[in-house]
Amino acid sequence: MGALRIDCTINGRKVSFLAGADQTLLEALREQLKLKGTKCGCGIGECGACTVILDGLAVCSCQVFVAQIDGCAILTIEGLGQHDELDPLQESFVEHRAVQCGFCTSGMLMSAKALLMSRKRPTREEIRQAISGNLCRCSDYNNIVLAIEDIDSE
Ligand code: FES
Ligand code: FES
Repeated sequence: MGALRIDCTINGRKVSFLAGADQTLLEALREQLKLKGTKCGCGIGECGACTVILDGLAVCSCQVFVAQIDGCAILTIEGLGQHDELDPLQESFVEHRAVQCGFCTSGMLMSAKALLMSRKRPTREEIRQAISGNLCRCSDYNNIVLAIEDIDSE
């Protein structure tokens, strides 16, 4: 299968790269673009570890063919905050001890960020709904919900 040229915007930067037609967005992020913060938990759309924001919506990047992102804008965990300047959402996760091993955390943060981009003050139920596709095996969902609820997104 021939390679496709993909032009898109990732974390605010225009990028152009070659990808296989059968490649997923998750594979392209981790392999061609070396953005390893997006994790592969299951590869079948069940765990949410691979969540990124595609044109404003949270998606499982393992379920998106890279050919579908041509011309799109993608936000990954690397675009959310930096080591010396965390996103308020990341700071809230730290403050609320909403992280244990961290494997689910980038996907969890991206689902929460997509929610906060569309709703400044989501209800607890909306938060639970927004992260319902993100599985965490070792932290406390209550702390995660509180961390998202406590965010000042003004
Ligand atoms: S790796 Fe994509 S949903 Fe689990
Ligand atoms: S913090 Fe370990 S899986 Fe969520």
